Amino acid sequence: MDQPYAPPYALDATGSDIHAEGAALRARGRAAWVKLPGDVCPVHAWAVTDPVLLKQLLADPRVSKDAARHWPDFADGRITRDWPMLIWVAVRNMFTAYGADHTRLRRLIAPAFTARRTKAMRPRVEAITEALLDDMARVGPDEVVDVRDRFAYQVPIQVICELMGVAESLAPRFRARVNGIFDTTLTAEEAEENGKAMYALLAELAESKRKEPDDDLTSFLIATRDEEHGTALDEQELLDTLLLMISAGHETTVNLLDQALFHLLTRPDQLAHVRAGRATWSDAAEETLRAEPSVPYLPLRYPVEDLDLGDGLVFRRNEPILAAFAAAGRHPSWHGEDADVFDVTRTDKSHLAFGYGTHLCLGMSLARLEAEIALPAFFDRFPQAELAADVPGQEIAKVSSFVSNGHTRLPVRLGRAAH
Ligand code: HEM
Repeated sequence: MDQPYAPPYALDATGSDIHAEGAALRARGRAAWVKLPGDVCPVHAWAVTDPVLLKQLLADPRVSKDAARHWPDFADGRITRDWPMLIWVAVRNMFTAYGADHTRLRRLIAPAFTARRTKAMRPRVEAITEALLDDMARVGPDEVVDVRDRFAYQVPIQVICELMGVAESLAPRFRARVNGIFDTTLTAEEAEENGKAMYALLAELAESKRKEPDDDLTSFLIATRDEEHGTALDEQELLDTLLLMISAGHETTVNLLDQALFHLLTRPDQLAHVRAGRATWSDAAEETLRAEPSVPYLPLRYPVEDLDLGDGLVFRRNEPILAAFAAAGRHPSWHGEDADVFDVTRTDKSHLAFGYGTHLCLGMSLARLEAEIALPAFFDRFPQAELAADVPGQEIAKVSSFVSNGHTRLPVRLGRAAH
């Protein structure tokens, strides 16, 4: 872990100002040598902010996500439970798999997320959205509602719980544990405790579906066999795949809805563009993903051999790579000098918020569907909604994380409901 690149840039574990941090990293070149949160077991990595280089690395077969095979510090036991983010690299599912293993683990579940399958979920997403809006409409027009909690959270968590067959009673427990996984300010002990509680919950879910299989993805993952070898997922692969689906399947989309609502509520000109048809709701979602990606940094990738990236930049084996999606999405070389400005009418809103290459997000069509339904439905129902930032004790703080980009709460005065 002793690296010759001094001094590393210490990333802010609280993620309090990821955009200022992103600018500081970009000023260091295409990639910056950084220190990740966690002091007892220090972890350093290359944070890649240049979009061209980032895309190149995400698609390069010489770059792995499998720590056990390709991160010597981890494989040889130097990365210990003293590192609070251990769970991000130690899990065994498609997220941390490489080559044939990745294909095997992804292929099992990918058919459930094709464009056609996702389209078929529209009526359920609409029904969930409408029920939540009905519920909020019961609140008086001058009362303040936490829209992150009551809407941005609820749409994705209800959708993913329905897909995975998670009972309603388990959903709040999963939500708390997923929050813990994304909270990068936890101590190693707290993170370990959270991980243990998460695995107990996953085992409970798997056990209930073994006893009573249903028409859901958890039951499917238990029963399914690999086409080529006829093998089932082993127990860790099963639990870790459930963990991935449930966590990636909601926290990220929560942030997308939260940030889109926040930006449209705080910039009336932007909302006016969408209402007047000068931009679509999908434009609003894509601009949110570009300017405020749900996952600002994604740990970790590993060069399987030394990579000479030109102009003197070399990533050696044992030097992990951190994808800096937020800094890339606001790179002036990609989106011009006004890259920091949230503008739904911008012609090119391309981004890397869903990743790129073989690990490209499996649920991106579902996330987009949820945003395209939830955002217009919210503003149609509550045309007078305004952010209530003036309410004492309701500051709009960011969640304490450098891998999750959302607010702790979104206090909104809803105004009169339209229907
Ligand atoms: C706005 C919402 C979302 C965002 C921004 C997002 C973002 C991402 C990112 C950045 C990755 C990692 C790509 C990489 O390793 O380079 C990823 C992977 C993944 N996402 Fe999403 N995601 C979202 C929603 C969802 C949903 C709704 C689901 C499931 C229902 C999902 C399931 C997955 C899975 C399974 C992977 C792992 C794919 C692989 O490693 O092959 N995501 N996502």
